[in-house]
Amino acid sequence: MSEKDYSKYFQTTYKPDEKKKKPKSAEDVGYSQKEAKRRGKEEIMVVNFDPIPDELKALGNGKTYCLVTFGCQMNEHDSETIAGILENMGYTSTEDEKSADIVLYNTCAVRENAEDKVFGHLGALKAVKMERPDMILGVCGCMSQDESVVNRILQKYQHVDLIFGTHNIHRLPILLRDALYSKEMVVEVWAKEGDVIENMPKVREGGLKAWVNIMYGCDKFCTYCIVPYTRGKERSRLPEDVIAEVRDLARQGYKEITLLGQNVNAYGKDLTDREYLFGDLMDDIRKIDIPRVRFTTSHPRDFDDHLIEVIAKGGNLVEHIHLPVQSGSTEVLKKMARKYSREQYLELVRKIKQAIPGAVLTTDIIVGFPGETEEQFQDTLSIVEEVRYDSAYTFIYSPRHGTPAAGMEDDIPEEVKKERLQRLIEVVNRIAREKNEEMRGQIVELLVEGESKTNPDVLSGRTRGNKLVNFVGPKDCIGKFVHVRITEPQTWTLKGEYLALVEV
Ligand code: 5AD
Ligand code: SF4
Repeated sequence: MSEKDYSKYFQTTYKPDEKKKKPKSAEDVGYSQKEAKRRGKEEIMVVNFDPIPDELKALGNGKTYCLVTFGCQMNEHDSETIAGILENMGYTSTEDEKSADIVLYNTCAVRENAEDKVFGHLGALKAVKMERPDMILGVCGCMSQDESVVNRILQKYQHVDLIFGTHNIHRLPILLRDALYSKEMVVEVWAKEGDVIENMPKVREGGLKAWVNIMYGCDKFCTYCIVPYTRGKERSRLPEDVIAEVRDLARQGYKEITLLGQNVNAYGKDLTDREYLFGDLMDDIRKIDIPRVRFTTSHPRDFDDHLIEVIAKGGNLVEHIHLPVQSGSTEVLKKMARKYSREQYLELVRKIKQAIPGAVLTTDIIVGFPGETEEQFQDTLSIVEEVRYDSAYTFIYSPRHGTPAAGMEDDIPEEVKKERLQRLIEVVNRIAREKNEEMRGQIVELLVEGESKTNPDVLSGRTRGNKLVNFVGPKDCIGKFVHVRITEPQTWTLKGEYLALVEV
């Protein structure tokens, strides 16, 4: 791996031997979150991952790594890349933080409680690090892109050896080498996204379901959200690269892929040399011989008619749409800068339901956004009743450093936020249960994923709509498609009766 000139990305690398003074803040290492907000016109290049240098290929022979992942599927998938790089350097995986030669936390910054967990782990590992000073303790992922977090680690968690950002994963071999040989904290966090890096090694879990990135970053800047700062500007992978990866996964026998992006509906908008959007990509992937194709996550604003038309063709494109609404009140949506009104959202849902019968709709909802009145909260309850989501992720608003909403007066008492969350969960669960009840007696197709977590005699699989169904059946149907009849719907899962294997 060559030492390239990365200054065009506003490089903010701190290398211990470059400065005499120990850095005390993100500023000292040259990182600025303001810079992360800028959306420049620099062209994004597609480059291949540099092969791991020969001298680093055996660095991890006989050694282990423990990679702990927090947050969304994007992070889970980044971890597959990190694992791929580490395993190509000779390291093997372990789940034991206390004995591993490298412990790495791939972190999430979307809400405060996710961050608290990481600081808890870092604190707990201090004693381990004292006992085994040769171990490497690293922090990567979205928290590393937050200035205040870098500051806190530099000041209070000096036993950390390595911090690297979401745009720096491909640099891991070099960073790890630096961390191993310098024994002082190595920090490399680029404020700006780099190129789209292709062909990074990956260790995919399971062999049945695989994630495929189609784009990186987010330009939406919803006022509560840290992601546009931690993940940089929207940039799409080239369709030919995505399609080649999906074909390759199909050849390897994967049964299901999930196309990933912070806002998949913006796919292709940045590809200046062609007119090719998410609907076009889905239409092309539809023709590939892979049984199931999912995607996440959608932004209602960019969800166009062509995409609905393509999903309605069915086949391997499953009828599950995760469509975060965040709030049912047009005023709150405006303050969140979501760029749609309650009515526009409902109109989109109407079009989806009309074109795709049996569509399973799920969502994300935030309660307690600054200034949210009881009446506005009731608009959220009523939109849930109107859409009738199959399930929803519900959150209490959490102020994020550097976002516009963090500057708004957070005037809702904690008890009120908790009470609203509770009331919302009750409505969401009641409707989820009613929706599942509608499936009683139906025959559904499942992709069987394995034994149920609680009982090895029971198998579990997922429907096209992503519902988890437990049933008793022959073990050799694991990894295959089966038909079951739904016998006992519950709130979060359903019970079924095994009927037969199916060819898909
Ligand atoms: N507070 C609470 N929830 C948040 N989300 C994003 N930012 C915040 C925040 N600051 C939620 C949104 C998003 C999901 C991934 O996390 O609902 O869709
Ligand atoms: Fe965050 Fe909004 Fe982008 Fe989703 S669309 S990642 S909520 S800024």
